[in-house]
Amino acid sequence: MDESQPILQMTGIVKTFYVRNRLQRVPVRALDDVDVVLRRGKVLGIIGESGSGKSTLANIIMGLETPDAGTMLFDGAAVDLHAKRSSQRALRAIQVVFQDPYSSLNPRMRVKALLREPLRHERFDRSQDFVQRCVSLLEMVGLPASALEKYPHQFSGGQRQRIAIARALAMNPKVLVCDEAVSALDVSIQAQILALLIDLKERLGLSIVFIAHGLNAVERISDDVVVMNLGKVVEHGPAGVVLQNPATDYTKKLVEISRDIVPFTLVPGEGGVPPRTEVLAAISEAVRVVPASRRTWRRKKW
Ligand SMILES: Nc1ncnc2c1ncn2[C@@H]1O[C@H](COP(=O)(O)OP(=O)(O)OP(=O)(O)O)[C@@H](O)[C@H]1O
Ligand SMILES: [Mg+2]
Repeated sequence: MDESQPILQMTGIVKTFYVRNRLQRVPVRALDDVDVVLRRGKVLGIIGESGSGKSTLANIIMGLETPDAGTMLFDGAAVDLHAKRSSQRALRAIQVVFQDPYSSLNPRMRVKALLREPLRHERFDRSQDFVQRCVSLLEMVGLPASALEKYPHQFSGGQRQRIAIARALAMNPKVLVCDEAVSALDVSIQAQILALLIDLKERLGLSIVFIAHGLNAVERISDDVVVMNLGKVVEHGPAGVVLQNPATDYTKKLVEISRDIVPFTLVPGEGGVPPRTEVLAAISEAVRVVPASRRTWRRKKW
């Protein structure tokens, strides 16, 4: 196998959704001739405004959506984007972590059962010590063996996301797709999960597609970055170049706005993680909440 060959290559991906309004079906071009390359053992960050097509691309990579046109090469082999993916090697080799572990983890199942579920589809050798396998998965994500007997609600948000990652790892994936996987977490917990993902990338040779709104997180973890706008790729290149020295006005604006909103660094020791109260204060300052008295006055005038 050629190690320099990308693990994943998407070419010419087009996807149009049809949204019905009162009179007709209106086409929404979610992806318009998108080319993306994920290098082996690297992290590809995908940024772009809401609605720019990031999740649609992630869903096509995972086989949850079918594109109208385009090709996918996984590990050097063509993947039939229109066939049912369950029979294909690529389905198991590409795993996903979503934003909200509460909706992806069944609250009625103990961690042990949650980890067993994906292994049911593996040709998992029953003679192997199943519990041992679960414990090593938990160890990989920094959780103690005692977590096996607990339910999702008994963990914090960050720990739940670790369980979701352990679950994805149970399938021995080559690619992990993280769609806003850290976006709902506190800044300091985000930093811990990012450190975990970087560790997994290095220890397991995982390749990661990392989608996030927060530019800081993307900058921290990504080797390469793709910038999307209205379904098109605006820029694609090494993270340092794209984020520090953007070539397009769109990326410049996006970087500027993101830095204005969260002007903090995520890495403890390199400027420090701000306390939550400070972050909240900065956000309310940024949105300048109108006093209640003023709001009442305005409503009266209308
Ligand atoms: N199932 C669907 N049916 C109709 N339209 C859809 C569907 N999924 C996505 N879209 C539309 O496609 C466009 C891209 O959506 P997508 O969810 O990929 O954006 P995104 O970049 O992930 O946004 P966000 O940052 O808010 O998650 C949007 O205009 C969205 O409304
Ligand atoms: Mg999305």
